[in-house]
Amino acid sequence: MRTKKKKHWKVTPRFYILLGILIAVILIVLAVFLLGDRDQNAGSQLPDPPDASQTGDSGNIDGTDEPGDSEEPGDTEEPGDTDAPGDTEKPNDVQNPDTTSDPNQTDKPQAPASTDVRTEDDGNLMVLVNKQYAVSRDYYPTDMVDIDGSLSTNQNLKVKREAYDAYLSMLADAKKEGLNFAICSAYRSYALQESLYNNSLAANGKAYTEKMFAYPGQSEHHTGYAIDVTSASMNWGLSQNYTDYPDGAWITKHCSEYGFIIRYPKGKEDITGYMYEPWHIRYVGVDAAKEITQQGITLEEYLGAV
Ligand code: DAL
Ligand code: ZN
Repeated sequence: MRTKKKKHWKVTPRFYILLGILIAVILIVLAVFLLGDRDQNAGSQLPDPPDASQTGDSGNIDGTDEPGDSEEPGDTEEPGDTDAPGDTEKPNDVQNPDTTSDPNQTDKPQAPASTDVRTEDDGNLMVLVNKQYAVSRDYYPTDMVDIDGSLSTNQNLKVKREAYDAYLSMLADAKKEGLNFAICSAYRSYALQESLYNNSLAANGKAYTEKMFAYPGQSEHHTGYAIDVTSASMNWGLSQNYTDYPDGAWITKHCSEYGFIIRYPKGKEDITGYMYEPWHIRYVGVDAAKEITQQGITLEEYLGAV
């Protein structure tokens, strides 16, 4: 009679190799799963308004400064009067226009082709700087003045004298109506703009950055004629809801009387190449500002450069 022989498994070296491979596969699958989850979380932490954190539109003129040096909304010191209407209200911050962009994207900026690169300030008030018309790395505007530090949220800012005089006049009139503003960004060197741009690129991805920050050499801030205005209703940061508040609405309504235009208006993104920026005003002189504003056009359209 045959007895059933019990089979004994023998632990061979091959068994250990297969076991090792199996464990390695499990660990890899686990790691991929965990890292993917972390990326998703990072994606949900969208940045605050550009020019405020970086806001594409904030920062000191010292190119060595951390671009985000610029304060987050609410982080900035109040430059003065704290009684401005809307002081306690917090508006919605600027939303990332491209929530699908990968915030971890670190593409190096590609220098966009500009049809024209200006190397010197010839004093032309209507100088056009945008994605087509650039200034060189060492372009430096003439007739610049220091901005009084008590009137700005970032220090050591500079701007064109003519634009500053107009701003001071506008501020004085706004104060008569119980409003108050501060400058958070004005002239920017190539280096500072580069720093802001690269910082945003690393933090927010290319799609967002290209809509909110000019490539270095293509920022109107480099001309000395652009000012970013902030106030209490934006918690001294920046917000696209600015005009929902009395101070932001006042700027939009009255800035042309002092020679400024809202340079990146709502609905004109395809022409300017940038998202709506109710805080970014550009000095062009009273006549041009009134005409541009009344016609509801952009500087590009006014100059026939579309
Ligand atoms: N935010 C404007 C477009 C700039 O970076 O100059
Ligand atoms: Zn700006």
